[in-house]
Amino acid sequence: MSGFMDLRDLAGDVVAFGGAVSNAHAAEALIAELAHLGLGAAPMVSTGDHCAYCAEPARTLALLRERGMWSIAGNCEESLGAGAGDCGCGFATGTACDLASGAWFAHAAAAIPLEARDWMQGLPRLAAFRAHGRRWGVLHGGASAVNRYVWPTDDDAVFAAEIALLGRTVGPVDAVLAGHCGVPFRREVGGRLWLNTGALGMPPHDGDRRVSYAIIRAGGVEMRRLGYDWRGAQAGMRSAGLVQGYDVCLETGWWPSEDILPAALRRAPARAVSG
Ligand SMILES: [Fe+2]
Repeated sequence: MSGFMDLRDLAGDVVAFGGAVSNAHAAEALIAELAHLGLGAAPMVSTGDHCAYCAEPARTLALLRERGMWSIAGNCEESLGAGAGDCGCGFATGTACDLASGAWFAHAAAAIPLEARDWMQGLPRLAAFRAHGRRWGVLHGGASAVNRYVWPTDDDAVFAAEIALLGRTVGPVDAVLAGHCGVPFRREVGGRLWLNTGALGMPPHDGDRRVSYAIIRAGGVEMRRLGYDWRGAQAGMRSAGLVQGYDVCLETGWWPSEDILPAALRRAPARAVSG
């Protein structure tokens, strides 16, 4: 795992995404949509976590690599590349994510070829690129920790601190491309943009089963939702025994793991019990 990769100037529009999470059907749909949009050769930058909850880690990774994506390492690449025993998300023992990750991590670890593990180990933790006149820094969860959850509900100070820390390694940036938390959002802090594209392979807990990515265009960032063959992805998960809740999420658009979310982002915020 190296520290930092500078991609320099990327020409034209840039496709930004993260969290393909072994969802090869979604990866295929993205590649097809980009071709349809005339972006079949556009640069693609990913924040990592290519292999996680769904059934096809090897095929997902192969599709995205063949398409020529640039990527940093997510916690999933760090753990799978190192042959670790879990995904490194840092979930508390007994949470829904902790229980689900045991199943998918074992599935992914068994399915990924040695060459792909070596590729994962060679990924940098941070990156930078320039597109349409702005310099972007790329990180997974945070600059302070690969598995840090930075939520749209966090205070400005959280973003400012992470951006400052990122700058120590990559130099000054106008914008940050982030992943890990799975919620697509954008935030302006101190004149800098923080963009999380959400996950390409899992919908963002809003009841809409479409997944998400972004296109960095000359006129600004376009955040997009993507429909795909979720039934095919779901059937593959069920055939593989990946039935801990994320298989249902592909259909409903609601996560099984609400316990990791800040209260304000939950479907049913906890109410105080009186009397
Ligand atoms: Fe992650």
